[in-house]
Amino acid sequence: MDIVVKVENLFKEIEGRQILKGVSFDVRAGEIFTIIGGSGSGKTSITKHIVGLWKPTSGRVEVFGKNVAELSQQELDLLRKDIGYVFQEGALFDSLRVWENVGFYFLEHTNMSKEEIRKIALEKLKLVNLEEDVLDLMPSELSGGMRKRVAIARAIATNPKLIIYDEPTSGLDPITSRVIDQLILQLREKTGSTAIVVTHDMISAFTISDRLLVLKKGETVVLGTPQEVLDSEDPFVKEFVGNMKDYLLAEQRNL
Ligand SMILES: Nc1ncnc2c1ncn2[C@@H]1O[C@H](COP(=O)(O)OP(=O)(O)OP(=O)(O)O)[C@@H](O)[C@H]1O
Ligand SMILES: [Mg+2]
Repeated sequence: MDIVVKVENLFKEIEGRQILKGVSFDVRAGEIFTIIGGSGSGKTSITKHIVGLWKPTSGRVEVFGKNVAELSQQELDLLRKDIGYVFQEGALFDSLRVWENVGFYFLEHTNMSKEEIRKIALEKLKLVNLEEDVLDLMPSELSGGMRKRVAIARAIATNPKLIIYDEPTSGLDPITSRVIDQLILQLREKTGSTAIVVTHDMISAFTISDRLLVLKKGETVVLGTPQEVLDSEDPFVKEFVGNMKDYLLAEQRNL
């Protein structure tokens, strides 16, 4: 089984504070791996190590078999081309049109024509169920859900093998959140990509994930399948997961 991301005993200290305290996990090719945990527990910090924005204080993070901390700037640029990152803030460039946001990588790094870039942008927008009519809109003209979808289209523009979604459903209504869940599943189907999802949305976590990591103050509490996490006797997990068991049972009855 191919391992896409290998995090080994990751410690991170910033300004004398321990942010990550020995986190270890593997993400397997093609899986949807989700990280849940309270605010400030270190979820986004883990993803920053995966894309090489941060270096471990100790421990090791390997992506596609390479130790991220040891890569040169050039190697890091190449690695990042293979990783799509949907930022927690969903940040789009406010002064750029939708097609320029989605095609940003190509505008910055290639000599491709406007027509070619628009074509790629449209292809990616279609993958997130948006159409041609949004190409020339400004981010301010989009709804929150559309903005998230454009951010996802931008993240997948370079056909990344790994997509990191940091809170893809935050700020969205429950219906749009489920649309985003379906999109994450569809993208995996269509592109065979691997996904790491950071979320506070328990429905999302328990319905789309192959495996889940529950984090508490920089430490792993449980790592396992949704069922294994639901069955955990750990008091923190029980409280955190809340009534998910009942919810999922009710969902199954509705099927
Ligand atoms: N640039 C930084 N400098 C110093 N401390 C930081 C920095 N970024 C994050 N932290 C600290 O690291 C800890 C973990 O932050 P992180 O952003 O990883 O949390 P999170 O689990 O993603 O939280 P949330 O669910 O609120 O997004 C927090 O205590 C935060 O204050
Ligand atoms: Mg975060």
